[in-house]
Order: sequence, then C-alpha cells, then structure tokens
Amino acid sequence: MCPPEHFVVEYAINPWMDTMASVDGELAHKQWEGLRQALVRLGHDVHVLSPEIGLPDMVYAANGAFVVDGIVYGARFKHPQRSAEAVAHRRFYTERSAHPWRFVPPVATNEGEGDFAYVPDAYGGIVLAGYGFRTEQAAHTEAQEVFGRPVISLKLTDPRFYHLDTALAALDDTNIAYYPAAFSDRSRRVLEQLFPSAVIAAEDDAVAFGLNLVSDGRHVVLNSDAVGLATKLSAAGYEPIPVELSELKKGGGSVKCCIAELRH
Ligand code: ARG
Repeated sequence: MCPPEHFVVEYAINPWMDTMASVDGELAHKQWEGLRQALVRLGHDVHVLSPEIGLPDMVYAANGAFVVDGIVYGARFKHPQRSAEAVAHRRFYTERSAHPWRFVPPVATNEGEGDFAYVPDAYGGIVLAGYGFRTEQAAHTEAQEVFGRPVISLKLTDPRFYHLDTALAALDDTNIAYYPAAFSDRSRRVLEQLFPSAVIAAEDDAVAFGLNLVSDGRHVVLNSDAVGLATKLSAAGYEPIPVELSELKKGGGSVKCCIAELRH
C-alpha cells in the first residue's frame, strides 16, 4: 500500500477518472490513513509500499501482483502510465520482504488483484479472473499454470466495472459478493452455478464501489457510500466496517484497490 501524497489524477482511461476534477490531497491522505488504521485495528500486519515520483496510481496497490500459496504472479500493466509500478511490487517481494515469496514474472498483460480473486475453500481453492478491459485472457491460463489452481474466466462487459475487483469480491473462504450486470450473460451463469448463495449487490452499491472491499471472513471493510450493501452483509452474518474514501474514488478505486493481500 502506498500513501497518496503523489496521488494525482492524470489520465482518462478509466470512466471514473475525470482529469479535470481536483483531488484534495490532504483529505486523500487522511482517508488512506483511516483505511490503514481500520486494517491495523482488525489485527492485520500492514506493510506500506513507498510511493514513487511519476507513478500517481501506485496508491492502488492491488494491481501490482496476485499472491496465492506464497507464489507471486507479477503484474504487467495494460497502459504504459502504470507499467513501472510492477517493478516496485516485484522489488517488495524479492528484496524487501522477510518472507521467501516465489516470484513468477508474467508474460501476459494482467493487473494483479484488480482482475484476480481467490476463494480458498470453494472447490478446493479457485481463482476467479476477469477480462474484457485490462487483463488478457491469456493471463488466466498463465495463472492456472503458475498456481496449479483452477482459474475461472469471467467476462466483464460494463466499462464502469473495468476491473474484476470493482464488481466481485471474496467474502470468506467459500462465498463471494458480486454485481451480476457487470458480467456477460454466460459468465453470470457460471457465477450462479458456482456460488448459488452469493450476496448480490444492487447497482447503486456497485457504482458506489461497494464491492471493492476486503474481508477477513467476518469483518468486511467497504466504502461507506455502499449503505445498502452494508445492510445486506449484516443480514448475511458479516460485520461491515465502512470507510470513507471519496478522494480515492476520483481515481477510480476504493478499499480493495488500495490493498494487496499477501497470502502465504
Ligand atoms: N486509476 C487506476 C486505473 O485506472 C485505478 C485502479 C484501481 N485499482 C483496482 N484494483 N481496481 O488503473
């Protein structure tokens, strides 16, 4: 995770990004710190990835890699503006971390956890993978060979949900939440078959970045604007932890986008 001191909205290849919108840097930093503290309060070890000049989107740390079983599948960004971020993430896993991660450099374009999710106890452990906007389908095949876990390809069709993590999230070891209309008809059918008890998000919660969440299986940290989803999650037995991230949303991201999950 990196603090948003260098958080500047620079380019419009994301429908949420209005390059003319001004970002309140101080508030962005406060909100980012609120997110960090929420994670610490929940007992997580939080490492901070240092920001680098010229990489304004680095605050969206989810995109730098995808980690399962101690194996790190590196990212390869679609747009040149972000490509150097992959190097910083790689350095974290190969030089800065005390843990012996196995780093696998990617061939195919993929934006890390932005387009990959892991559900550890569903069907023995499966990876859900998005394509259509950023990550290439070839990366799904590559990920399956890297992890030795089944990878389910899901087609994203609505540009507002340009990364899988804007439309779907793992809630615990077996279940997910998602917004069906973000997917093609056939991919929706796949999700219905695999996750019949999923929590289904309404459109207003999805556009409020409600699904861009992280969960420890009980506490679900999500954007405070997704009020309806928070209510649904409570009804399903989870404890929603709302955080305000209005300034981060201006760059097209929320809770999950700012967090890379390190799965040993
Ligand atoms: N502005 C960034 C982009 O368009 C936002 C990335 C959000 N990250 C995410 N994991 N969805 O690439």
